[in-house]
Amino acid sequence: MISRDTIDKVFETSRVEEVIGDFVNLKKAGANYKGLSPFTDEKTPSFMVSPVKQIWKDFSTGKGGNAITFLMEHEHYSYPEAIRYLARKYNIEIEETQQTDEQKQVANERESMYLVSEFAKNHFHENLYHSEKGKAIGYTYFKARGFTDETIKKFALGYAVDEWSIFTDVAIQKKYDLEFLEKTGLTIVKRNEETRLVERQFDRFKGRVIFPIQSMSGRVLGFGGRTLLTDKKIAKYVNSPESIIYHKSKILYGIYQAKQSIAKQNNCYLVEGYTDVISMVQSGIENVVASSGTALTSDQIRLINRLTPNITVLFDGDAAGIRASIRGIDLILEQGMNVKVITFPDGEDPDSFAKGKTEDELKNYLEYNAKDFIQFKTSLLLEEAQNDPVKKADLIRDIVASISKIPNNIQKEIYIQECASIMGISENVLFNELSQILKKEQRQASKKQTTSRTPFTGVKKQVEKPKKFDQLFNLEKKIIEILLLYGNIEVEFVDFVSEIDDNGKKIIKKENYTNAVSNEIYVHLHEDEIEFTNPIFLKIYYEIIHLLNQEQEIVPEIFTNHENTEISVAVTSILMDEEQYALSDWERHDIIVKSKESNLSKLVMDVLYNLRRLLIAQKITALKSNMSPDNNEIENQKEIVLESMEEIRDYTNLKQLLFEKLNRVL
Ligand code: CTP
Ligand code: MN
Repeated sequence: MISRDTIDKVFETSRVEEVIGDFVNLKKAGANYKGLSPFTDEKTPSFMVSPVKQIWKDFSTGKGGNAITFLMEHEHYSYPEAIRYLARKYNIEIEETQQTDEQKQVANERESMYLVSEFAKNHFHENLYHSEKGKAIGYTYFKARGFTDETIKKFALGYAVDEWSIFTDVAIQKKYDLEFLEKTGLTIVKRNEETRLVERQFDRFKGRVIFPIQSMSGRVLGFGGRTLLTDKKIAKYVNSPESIIYHKSKILYGIYQAKQSIAKQNNCYLVEGYTDVISMVQSGIENVVASSGTALTSDQIRLINRLTPNITVLFDGDAAGIRASIRGIDLILEQGMNVKVITFPDGEDPDSFAKGKTEDELKNYLEYNAKDFIQFKTSLLLEEAQNDPVKKADLIRDIVASISKIPNNIQKEIYIQECASIMGISENVLFNELSQILKKEQRQASKKQTTSRTPFTGVKKQVEKPKKFDQLFNLEKKIIEILLLYGNIEVEFVDFVSEIDDNGKKIIKKENYTNAVSNEIYVHLHEDEIEFTNPIFLKIYYEIIHLLNQEQEIVPEIFTNHENTEISVAVTSILMDEEQYALSDWERHDIIVKSKESNLSKLVMDVLYNLRRLLIAQKITALKSNMSPDNNEIENQKEIVLESMEEIRDYTNLKQLLFEKLNRVL
């Protein structure tokens, strides 16, 4: 277990904008930061971070919280793992109450798989430096490829000794469970068909050099293992199998080492192989990741899009390969990213090309050879279609199809003009083609919508508005917001009391008194026996009252850092909703804040009276429905009706009284 002291230190030191900045490209927007949501596929930023409040909110998914909750949401960390991550980030020493063996058992499946993968990474890496075979075979191989020790360490490269189960044996001896060795694919287990008893177990990666594959935050998710043999019958690479921690389509090799540079350079180089990434990084180009030999997926593109809207695809130098990969690029255009491409001389890939080049030479090559994707595709296809009218027609359709994927209309138009001039045809031809494609897509989209609606829920569901404006929810939310932001402030309140004067006449007297906002709210709600209907608001309210009783200040951080995530999420949401309004209208906001603070007593009274009025109105409606003909079967219904009528009258009077009070306050 991590000590309380360490946890406190982590909370004090962590800055939410720095923690999130490692994963999301944040831009300053007023007092806050904005960026693209890392949880959805969006093109306009709705993800917000408040450095003052030390919280974040993703308006497209409704998620929000503090630095810890971000890591839990985004990296799927457990609470202690998030603390550990932050401690590492901020060089805070972790005080531990020791129980590591037990910890291993308690950790759930996912955690166990991460743990055993981390162990394997270290084991394979250490082989390069400490095992005889590792030094003689693995280390020698990497050196022969020109990788420096710095590079080997940066990518935690390794070697799996070529014996049946040497790795598995060490892992089991160190108390790692065979179950997780098997689930991560590190160990291949053969069982008896009938008894299911283990017959044989061996190391998947034996005899291969190892490339650990890490998540954006550096967790080991899986491995690629390259054979050292040149036998064509043996697969060059063996990779970890799909598992709950390793999803091939969602990872990019090198993203952990590259993420900061990608954000900083505002561009990401995309290559094919592990060794391409490593060689480029060693040559001084750090903003590079690999799709690991498969067609790019939209999940992978999204990963890059969080860091930058610009991507440069590096093609190995064979024409067939280029033509195959070109299709995948439409996916990148669809996400509104800017795509450039770079080709290499025949027979070269980024790895071989980078060899023996200085950083400047490489940078110059990349700079001068980067071509706009649409222009590149046009020129490439044009070469093939030169004197073939049928092919040329295909080409036009093909190019315009790519252009149609670009979400921005102005950009679409510019590309149409450029391509027309490259191909030497009129713009109109291309515009016609474009509008046909777009129309066809629209038809398909609307068809999809109509067919996806199920016939039974059809009409009614559609008429229903998304969500009704819930007055009670909003008033309760407002009260919590006031308590959190202004609870401690002493304010002058006004009340109106009726008195009988010396002449026996009823008069209304104005009374001024000061009270802390929190106390005033408490007294009012208590008097009227009003309880919050929303269970989370109720919990927050009780905790606030508890603070009051202990004469402690109400500090929003107590709630945004609350161990109950329901509470921290709700409070973050309340505070950030206010912030979002501020962002869209920050100039006016300044004025609103000032007037809000000076009119605090009015604000408090306004909310409290409105809440009462709403509750009374609800009561009256409930009573009325009690008297409705539906309930006429009841025996002594007359009495009930009379009683109800009396109550309604009382409540109506009360409502009137409140209305008057409210008007006076305002
Ligand atoms: N790959 C794979 N399985 C294979 C072959 C390739 O997963 N059987 C993936 C690997 O991620 C590899 C990438 O595709 O890095 C590119 O393949 P290739 O160009 O053949 O390998 P290189 O990375 O260039 O390796 P090397 O330079 O060592 O030949
Ligand atoms: Mn290669």
